[in-house]
Order: sequence, then C-alpha cells, then structure tokens
Amino acid sequence: PTPILQTDTGPLMHKAVEEATRLLKAGEVVALPTETVYGLAADALNPEAVAKVFEAKERPSFDPLIVHLPNKKALDQVAEVPADIQPVVQKIIEQMWPGPLTIVLPKKPCVPDIVTAGLPSVAVRVSKNAVFRRVAEALGRPIAAPSANRFGSISPTSAGAVAAELDDRIPLIVDGGACLCGIESTIIKIEPGSPKPIITILRPGPITPDDLKVYGKVKHASRTVVDEATEAPGQLASHYAPRTPLRLLSKPEDFIPEPGKRYALMSYRGDVEDGYTGLTEWVHVQILSPGKGKLPEAAVRFFYVLRELDGLGVDEIIAEPMFEHGMGIAMMDKLRRAAVKH
Ligand code: TXA
Ligand code: MG
Repeated sequence: PTPILQTDTGPLMHKAVEEATRLLKAGEVVALPTETVYGLAADALNPEAVAKVFEAKERPSFDPLIVHLPNKKALDQVAEVPADIQPVVQKIIEQMWPGPLTIVLPKKPCVPDIVTAGLPSVAVRVSKNAVFRRVAEALGRPIAAPSANRFGSISPTSAGAVAAELDDRIPLIVDGGACLCGIESTIIKIEPGSPKPIITILRPGPITPDDLKVYGKVKHASRTVVDEATEAPGQLASHYAPRTPLRLLSKPEDFIPEPGKRYALMSYRGDVEDGYTGLTEWVHVQILSPGKGKLPEAAVRFFYVLRELDGLGVDEIIAEPMFEHGMGIAMMDKLRRAAVKH
C-alpha cells in the first residue's frame, strides 16, 4: 500500500515535508492536504510529472488542473495579468490569498499545455494549509494539483479517503488531518466592466458571492456545463458521483419509497420538523450540521458523509436540500451533479 506520513509533531512534519519535496523534485506525484480538499500534487512546470497526475486519476486530458503558488508574489511567474484588471486582481489576492479562491488568468508560456488542457488561461491559487505551504516553499516552484480522487468520484477530505481512491497508484500520501473547508475552492474569472469589474463564478465554493461583491459585479456561470469546450471544462454535469444512485429531493412529499428498497438519508440539520427523517425506515441517516443547520459545518462534513453513505450498499441515497446561499450554493451544485444519471 501507499505510505502515509503523519504531520502532528514538529519532527514528523519536517520528515513528511522533506520526503514530499524530494519526490516532487524527482518528477513524482504526492497527495497533500489543502484547506479545501486533498490534492494530488506534481511540479507544474514538468509535463512528465503532470502526466502522472492524469494517469493516477484516470482524468481525461481536456480537464485542466489548478496551479498552486508558493506565495502571492509568484503569480507573475505563471500568469499575465491584463492591465485593465490589474487593480482588482491585486486587491482580491491581497485580501483572499492564501485561501480557497482560484482565479483564471491568461497564462505565461512556461506553463505546459498539459496543465491547462491547451487553454490560453491558467487557474491559480495559494493554499492556506500549513503542510502544503511548507512543501510549496521548499520546492520553490508552482504545483499542479487537482483533487486527489479518481476522475468523477467524491473528493477526499482526509488521508484515509485519498488512500481509498488512489492506494498503490501513488508513492506517498501526507496526512494533514481533516480539511478545514471540506469543499473545493471557488473558481472565478475577472473581466473589466464599468462602473465595476465583472467577476464570474465558474465553480461555487467556500468563498461566496457575498464575499466577492465588494470587488465587482458578481455573475454565475451556467449551472450545467456539458460541453467540454466551455469555460470551466471540468464542470461536467455528472461529477462528484457516488457509486450509489443519489436523488436530491425538492420537498419531502416527493419521496415515495418502493417496497423492498433500502434507502439512506443525507440530512441537512436532522430536524424532525424538516419532514425528512420520518419519511421511511432509513437504513442510515447522516446529518451534515447536527441541530444548528450551519452551512460551513455542513461543508466540512459534506464529502465525508457522501463517501460513508456510498459505502453502505443501499439502493439509493436521498439528499435533503439545503439553503441555497453562502456555501449552500456550492453543495447544492455538487448534489445536482451527483444526481445526474450516468
Ligand atoms: O480546492 C481546490 O480547488 C482543489 C485543491 C486540491 O486545490 N483542487 C481542485 O482541482 O478542485 P480539480 O482538478 O478537482 O478541479 C479543477 C477545476 C477543473 O476541473 C476546471 O473546471 C477548473 O478547475 N479549471 C482549471 N483550469 C482552468 C482554466 N484555465 N479555465 C477554466 N477553468 C479551469
Ligand atoms: Mg476534482
């Protein structure tokens, strides 16, 4: 099996960072924690190393990767920031990086085509995770890292979940504990506009439209992107799919259990008054945000819960809808994609 290195003490952290950096320098891939989900990292400027990421994930080559920088100043190395959006980009990265926000910008020629799937743009961010940052600084080069799951599968938010996805396919997993956000970074593109710049959300995530509206007019890219030639090529309709069929209900009355079938419930608050917990004899109920109905708490548990329900071998996972604001936008988007039949 793939070795998993711990990071909970100073010496262990030092050893894990050193080993991860050594492998990345040698053109290998390594699973690393970030504040969003675990990433499968490779030296972004080494096309052979990046090819190993696609191979381990079985990811189609039309799906571009996110490039993680060691720090804000490194942006110039990989991206060409157009003069007309320079001030707003500067302001956003000053206040949001390091953090779960990815910005799509025109790429510099040094970024290999395999990273961007041949697009003229590159998606960049700076991770806030302490382990990831240490590795990025020690490597001193940009790191290409998609989520460390097999293509189309559930994103991993723990080292164990990475092992379940990629065991024996990669030489190292660094365990940084549970991810702080639990869902993937928000991806935006920025265009000039008057009176305000236009910020388009290509993938909803932890940074919400409310967080972004101080920087410009916030728009949402269309919800279901099935055409691979569109702007966020990875945003396929069917994504984040558990192996078990998943149904997202709009209201409890929509659910009519079929006799003999076994169902598990992904509940938002576990509140009886919401009308979901008593609908049938559930094989299992998992609550995203017990009692409180707090969206960030639900986000942290989201992929973990989905993965657990998927492991039960039930006939169908029934998902209760969440409020579609803040981080609820990203989770509802993921549930809709998970519910698309293959
Ligand atoms: O939180 C995250 O963003 C995690 C961690 C590991 O950083 N990474 C992640 O990567 O979610 P991945 O590969 O699962 O999703 C990256 C997505 C692509 O599927 C695509 O939609 C978008 O980023 N993307 C990458 N490059 C792009 C580009 N040049 N233009 C538009 N979208 C791009
Ligand atoms: Mg992914």
